[in-house]
Amino acid sequence: MASTEVDLSPVEVGQSITVTWRGTPVFIRHRTAEEIEAARAVDVSSLRDPQTDEDRATKPEWLVIVGICTHLGCVPLGQKKTDPHGEFGGWFCPCHGSHYDQSGRIRKGPAPKNMVVPEYTFLSDTLIRIG
Ligand code: FES
Repeated sequence: MASTEVDLSPVEVGQSITVTWRGTPVFIRHRTAEEIEAARAVDVSSLRDPQTDEDRATKPEWLVIVGICTHLGCVPLGQKKTDPHGEFGGWFCPCHGSHYDQSGRIRKGPAPKNMVVPEYTFLSDTLIRIG
């Protein structure tokens, strides 16, 4: 299966990039300490699709998720600072109003599942292989 290597060294704290992997967008976000703290403070049992942030982001400063809404497949907004980030500070899908948090977990709206974490490996501190 095709994999993609991404150099993360130019991605600043608080910045997100979108890369393409197997024809789908993958969001990579260099999270701030505040975002990590907020994502980890959530009561997992209150979530529609209960997953800890620790399980979703093994290196907490890097969140890597498939940028496809799990409702009907739109690409959520939130990659740019000026985008809407929804009520939970992550991403917002404008198609039917799904709100995702700083871990890419569904928090409000029709989407049934969290945005998917693809398989990935850190080859070094700043080089990641997706797939
Ligand atoms: Fe995202 Fe429907 S496709 S809310």
